Amino acid sequence: MLDRRRAGVTALLLSVVSMGAFAASMASYPDGWQDWPVVKESQNLPADTVLPPDTSLFIQESVRAYSWINNGQGSPLTIRVNPSKLEQYKTHGPYTDGPTAVAISEVDGIVWVTEHIGGLAIYGSYDREGKDVSHTHPSLEPSFCQSCHTTYQDICINGTCAEPVLGVYKDK
Ligand code: HEC
Repeated sequence: MLDRRRAGVTALLLSVVSMGAFAASMASYPDGWQDWPVVKESQNLPADTVLPPDTSLFIQESVRAYSWINNGQGSPLTIRVNPSKLEQYKTHGPYTDGPTAVAISEVDGIVWVTEHIGGLAIYGSYDREGKDVSHTHPSLEPSFCQSCHTTYQDICINGTCAEPVLGVYKDK
């Protein structure tokens, strides 16, 4: 009994410590993103999505990472691009400084932001009112965004991923 209680306290402490390690958004919240042109209507797929066995690891990870959205029910995802960067987005950069693109998970109202500074992509997660929500889920931390957007450099060029994925979703 005592052991179990101690384990509980330890688990609690661990979760407090790891929450403290959550980083805040690095990309800033771009005012006026609501008026940016929509370049893609996509979706966060539901948790029970069955992917074809030959689905790439990148897509598998992308689907799994956000399968918790809307309690596992999925959500429409709208991608908007800073009007001054539309041409840059078409070619995946190179990008000038400033906020580049947002992806809005419509049901939960999560605004994912990719910004560029000195050619490097940085990331942030906000609600629609501009409150930083990156600490509310491990997959909303900037380091987690980076682990996908910066790691898969054959797909996510200069930190943006959407275009080549379009073909993949079209095949389904
Ligand atoms: C496991 C992979 C993965 C992770 C983690 C991830 N993304 Fe993405 N992201 C994608 C994919 C795939 C797309 C393209 C979606 C589509 O085309 O439907 C995308 C698209 C985007 C876009 C639209 C612009 C573009 O083309 O890249 C933004 C903005 C974005 N992500 C920001 C973020 C932020 C901020 C985080 C972290 C909170 C994050 N992403 C985490 C895979 C990921």
